[in-house]
Amino acid sequence: MASSSSCRAWHCLLALFLLSSSAYSQLSPSFYAKSCPTLQLIVRATMIKALLAERRMGASLLRLHFHDCFVQGCDGSILLDDVGSFVGEKTAFPNVDSVRGYEVIDEIKKNVELLCPGIVSCADIAALAARDGTFLLGGPSWSVPLGRRDSTTASLTEANSDLPAPSLSLNLLIKAFDKKQLSPQDLTALSGAHTIGFSQCLNFRDHIYNGTNIDPAFATLRKRTCPAQAPNGDKNLAPFDVQTQLLFDNAYYRNLVAKRGLLNSDQVLFNGGSQDALVRQYVANPALFASDFVTAMIKMGNINPLTGTAGQIRRNCRVVNS
Ligand code: HEM
Ligand SMILES: *[C@@H]1O[C@H](CO)[C@@H](O)[C@H](O)[C@H]1NC(C)=O
Repeated sequence: MASSSSCRAWHCLLALFLLSSSAYSQLSPSFYAKSCPTLQLIVRATMIKALLAERRMGASLLRLHFHDCFVQGCDGSILLDDVGSFVGEKTAFPNVDSVRGYEVIDEIKKNVELLCPGIVSCADIAALAARDGTFLLGGPSWSVPLGRRDSTTASLTEANSDLPAPSLSLNLLIKAFDKKQLSPQDLTALSGAHTIGFSQCLNFRDHIYNGTNIDPAFATLRKRTCPAQAPNGDKNLAPFDVQTQLLFDNAYYRNLVAKRGLLNSDQVLFNGGSQDALVRQYVANPALFASDFVTAMIKMGNINPLTGTAGQIRRNCRVVNS
């Protein structure tokens, strides 16, 4: 009787699982293997050129992908310019005069279009550039799931509400990441991206003058180029990691334990709360940090992608196809 059933219990469950997991994500590292076999070489070559001109660009492109994914998902929405009546995300508080690397995305896209016209999305280019930026600064590498398509919309409102501010408490950071289905562990691992790159004074002023959980010598050092009175020195840069500012290592976590986190949102990961133990683990075990970072980057890259026939493949990353 049961053997004639077309759907035995565990087969059914397996089928449902496969269906639901493919609906959850249709991205695949081999998505362009036939349609654009040179894609990864083009991105890598263009990224090397960009980093030879300015090493910091590796950090900037890692951040750009994060700011893309947290707003409407990883759909290239951050790349859209304000043109005519179209309002993009570039003027949102966390992005304006802060997110860098749009020109590098343009150059990668131009080179990719020469060899594979109309095939590769800007959202996927941003994901590959983030991976290459990490790797070229000495960090881990991973194969990037691909197949995202580009949005025809952007959301200034969501950019302002969903991109976390450096003033947030640990609870609010955990909430902001939970909203994107990222765990507290993902938050702590992804924040390790702050082992590379720089912040402007206006983003860490309050922490170095008013913070309670900060090494006084570190505060003094940072105050030298970040005056208390805004807007003086607002745009002055300080490295997240004093020692190895453009090397992707685990120094970020050592700095947190030494109370040398640059942003308030960095130091709250090690202030007697729930993430202290994990921070200590990442200090002791750089390989664990590298592998958790990769896992979390792939999760972040999976936030709400447009796939199949949704969205479009933009010809120019800055404007929706007409
Ligand atoms: C946890 C919440 C986060 C907050 C509050 C935050 C905030 C910030 C701020 C304020 C800056 C300095 C921007 C400026 O002064 O112009 C910055 C830089 C940076 N962020 Fe984050 N960030 C967070 C998470 C992340 C994540 C998840 C990544 C990537 C995985 C990331 C990657 C970077 C990088 C690489 C830089 C340096 C960029 C450069 O030098 O151009 N951040 N972040
Ligand atoms: C320190 O905190 C006070 C009270 O919130 C605020 O008015 C002041 O602007 C802060 N100082 C700096 C340098 O951010």
